[in-house]
Amino acid sequence: MTQMTPRSVTKVFTAAPSQDGDGVALRRAFPGAELMDLDPFLLLDHLGPTSLAPGEARGFPPHPHRGFETVTYLLDGEMQHRDSWGNHETIRPGDVQWMTAGSGLVHSELPGETLVRDGGTLQGFQLWVNLPKKDKMTAPRYQDTPASAIPVVRNPEATVTAKVIAGETLGTKGVIETRIPILYLHLTLEPGSGFEQAIPKSRNAFAYVIEGTGEFNKIVAQNQQVVLFDRGGEGVRIANPGPARLSLLLLAGEPIGQPVARYGPFVMNSKEELVQAVDDYQQGRMGVLA
Ligand code: FE2
Repeated sequence: MTQMTPRSVTKVFTAAPSQDGDGVALRRAFPGAELMDLDPFLLLDHLGPTSLAPGEARGFPPHPHRGFETVTYLLDGEMQHRDSWGNHETIRPGDVQWMTAGSGLVHSELPGETLVRDGGTLQGFQLWVNLPKKDKMTAPRYQDTPASAIPVVRNPEATVTAKVIAGETLGTKGVIETRIPILYLHLTLEPGSGFEQAIPKSRNAFAYVIEGTGEFNKIVAQNQQVVLFDRGGEGVRIANPGPARLSLLLLAGEPIGQPVARYGPFVMNSKEELVQAVDDYQQGRMGVLA
């Protein structure tokens, strides 16, 4: 451990059980009563974990997006992704799809054929990252990153494992390009271990506990809880008091600091731009997904 001054925890709260799409059970970390957003992050959903019988799997039928990025990280199950510009991918456990919706598209996110036929477990995350004004109307872009391309790094004691989805930790950089500086780590801490991550003071940061119990600068949080940090320290300090393994997401991002106008799947800077987005969608200018 270094002599880093850790950030303090300002709030711990439990993600609210919810449903979205065609009946997908999820936990919504935000937006909600506890937190509306955390610039540049607009939403975090924890899908499942849900045990599905054959024929029971549900997904997200066609819907549009404009003005931000959606990041899907799957832990269990299989998702089929299609969009109005002809893109089609299958997302499997450990894969990350970093989708820059930009000027707009219509897409569907449906369970994979095997998951529908045989049943199984579905678990994953969807994060929404806002785009700065200059990038909101950029051409849509996909960074489909298979699990094998996501760097995995361990501390010297091999008690902490980090999957580097974006940003850098333990001297290892992620492969996904972001428009603004983003840190997105999936961390696993063995019982009794600790971890420190430096984060520039300008950035907002939070953690989401997937499994186990953690201490965040001595404040305890457990599975399905969100931990908000202040900006008063040089980074975050996490410990696993045990007895179980601790699994969590750690996110940090540079705030954009621009007005946020939000209407369902569109996130722009003004009401006028939202009206334009709805019109463009209705007129088929984001493409059509049959
Ligand atoms: Fe979507």
